[in-house]
Amino acid sequence: MNRKYEPKIVALLCTYCTYTAADMAGSMRLQYPSNVRVVKLLCTGKVDVVYLLGAFRAGADAVMVSGCEIGDCHFLEGNLRAKERVEHAKTLLDELGLDARRLEMFHIGASDAPKWAAAVEQMTRRALELGPNPLGQASAAVERTGEELTR
Ligand code: FES
Repeated sequence: MNRKYEPKIVALLCTYCTYTAADMAGSMRLQYPSNVRVVKLLCTGKVDVVYLLGAFRAGADAVMVSGCEIGDCHFLEGNLRAKERVEHAKTLLDELGLDARRLEMFHIGASDAPKWAAAVEQMTRRALELGPNPLGQASAAVERTGEELTR
């Protein structure tokens, strides 16, 4: 069976900025890929390396974190901490052979809906270039095997 690859992208978004921009993009009817699943956070400072790796383990082909512009975080340095954690997670992705380009940090303000749409397009292009996340394929295979065993 030859299924078309449609990348699954997980986006962890700060409610004060990028989440609003994503909402506005919908209201403005901006065109961008619909393959992104949004997780709303109070601040990207909540992002932990464990969450990022967990998203890949669950089958995400790419993960994006997007918070307030530098200097605009409502919790002062949450976005800076998130940026450091994303950089750390990228080194782990490379060590695991998953490719650090599957993960990216963005800073997108509440009124910047076009920047949000462009970021989703950028990550979708990358995920298409890199191909499916091998961990996602493995977990799908385990799931299928489990289903077959329980029939
Ligand atoms: Fe938006 Fe911290 S409040 S990133």
